Amino acid sequence: MERTFLMVKPDGIQRGLIGKIISRMEDKGFKMIAGKLMFVSEELAKVHYQEHEGKPFFEKLVNFITSGPVFAMVWEGDDIIALSRNLIGKTNPSEAMPGTIRGDFASHATFNLIHGSDSKASADREIGIYFTPEQLLSYDKSISPWI
Ligand code: PPS
Repeated sequence: MERTFLMVKPDGIQRGLIGKIISRMEDKGFKMIAGKLMFVSEELAKVHYQEHEGKPFFEKLVNFITSGPVFAMVWEGDDIIALSRNLIGKTNPSEAMPGTIRGDFASHATFNLIHGSDSKASADREIGIYFTPEQLLSYDKSISPWI
């Protein structure tokens, strides 16, 4: 079972879109195994986005991610890294297809609502910088009698 790191960015929190974003993932059949509302420090932002240091948008990205709370999550499912990137849509909302999260809700290249890991290596690294192993829950949805 594959895992990925997803994060509702400050614009998603401010616009009240946490629930809708989580619903998209649940509707696809994925399982959340960790989640927390938190502030990202400048130090953490620079570690998270270290591969983009030096790019023209780096400072803007760090300023944005640290500007308000985010909702950090770990999700589990078959092929979830590629499939969740499809659900999220292209980075630039002008290229994001309708039906994707960014295609439906985002209208700005910086304020694009959600981050999703782009590879297994990124997912492992990002999960490790936001969560401890003990915070990643192990449970079986199918054994609950009410669902
Ligand atoms: S690259 O250069 O192709 O690897 O960059 P890309 O994958 O498109 O984007 C990397 C992250 O930077 C964010 N980004 C921006 N932030 C602020 N302003 C601008 N103009 C901008 N362009 C890209 C983009 O949303 C990616 O962040 P995450 O959190 O991974 O979505």
